Amino acid sequence: MEVIIAKDYDTLSKQAAMLLASQVISQPGSVLGLATGSTPVGAYKNLVAFYNEGIVDFSRAIVFNLDEYYGVAPENPCSYRWFMEDNLFKHINIRQENTHIPNGLARDTAAECREYEEKIRRAGGIDLQLLGIGGNGHIGFNEPGDSFKSATHLVELDSGTIAANSRFFASRDEVPRQAISMGIKSIMAARRIILLASGAGKAKAVYEMVQGPVTPEHPASVLQLHPQVIIILDQEAASLLPPRA
Ligand code: F6R
Repeated sequence: MEVIIAKDYDTLSKQAAMLLASQVISQPGSVLGLATGSTPVGAYKNLVAFYNEGIVDFSRAIVFNLDEYYGVAPENPCSYRWFMEDNLFKHINIRQENTHIPNGLARDTAAECREYEEKIRRAGGIDLQLLGIGGNGHIGFNEPGDSFKSATHLVELDSGTIAANSRFFASRDEVPRQAISMGIKSIMAARRIILLASGAGKAKAVYEMVQGPVTPEHPASVLQLHPQVIIILDQEAASLLPPRA
């Protein structure tokens, strides 16, 4: 695990965007795994700026997002499909058919999950996976206690996640209770991983991810076992880590 402590959120965002852009520049047909939530918004803004400056071309890139709320239609502004269109896809030249997000309206969720894994496999696997981290240590929507062996699956959101994500909905009652998420096994199969964390609210989860035991009780701790992980933190998110040489 390489840990980079950025001066602030803007620097963290720029560094993440540079890593994503350089992946696509060096391999234009790259398969990117992307995340939603507040943390990657700055990285996506920087990627859009790089695209507008002619630095990076997404015409051959392929994207698989980590997750989607179950029961939420893509046209719903609370859906992760909407979030990705709004923050990234509609501002760059990625082809619509190359953007993949689990179908939150799938009737047969087991089939949807199997097909999602199959699509990732047919695309050649994920070259670079971007992650955020939940205050409870989740990655994707793999909540504490979920198996490390899971591929894409239907998950029950933890009460802490429902509370944290209620800021994107009119009320807590409107937050879906389930989501379709890539599993820990799917995430660990990515060739390279970048995890971003910003703010004091993530400091404890970051400490456990980097310094704690590897345990399903803290899903992000599994990243200690991945050979190619870069963790980019701002000062607040890094505040509980021991000083580094
Ligand atoms: C998002 C995702 C989640 C978020 C995490 C942090 O697709 O899978 O794991 O990365 O909940 O969210 P923010 O960035 O909003 O704090």
